[in-house]
Amino acid sequence: MDYKNLIKAANSAKKNSHSPYSKFRVGAAVLTKSGKIYSGCNIEISSYSLTICAERTALFKAISEGEKKFIALALSTDEEGFTSPCGACRQVISDLAGDIDIILTNGKGKEKLLRTSDLLPHPFTPNNLI
Ligand code: THU
Repeated sequence: MDYKNLIKAANSAKKNSHSPYSKFRVGAAVLTKSGKIYSGCNIEISSYSLTICAERTALFKAISEGEKKFIALALSTDEEGFTSPCGACRQVISDLAGDIDIILTNGKGKEKLLRTSDLLPHPFTPNNLI
């Protein structure tokens, strides 16, 4: 699968990162089964714990537009190495998108392809509550 446009969307969303405290810019983009892309950035709040990560911004935007099926999420930072989604975002991705492709990128234009299940094996799932 060619995720070029998805990665472009994540890179582009990173430019809108509101990260005055950490200066750590993050962009994310999710691809729906129907081929639509929703992107988002991290948004930091002066009361730090209210900050939202880029992955959750992108997914929440998509869900709030009625999207239900996803096939991939791409992540973009300025780091030389590959940045992985934080633990909270792993749970959110698992809950809302399931076992999808996760494309990590680094600041040098390289990509690493993983699955949600690589990042969060043995997840707690919505089914546990039924
Ligand atoms: N951040 C993300 O946007 N996604 C992650 O998966 C890791 C962390 C953001 C949150 C905060 O604005 C900054 O990166 C530093 O933690």
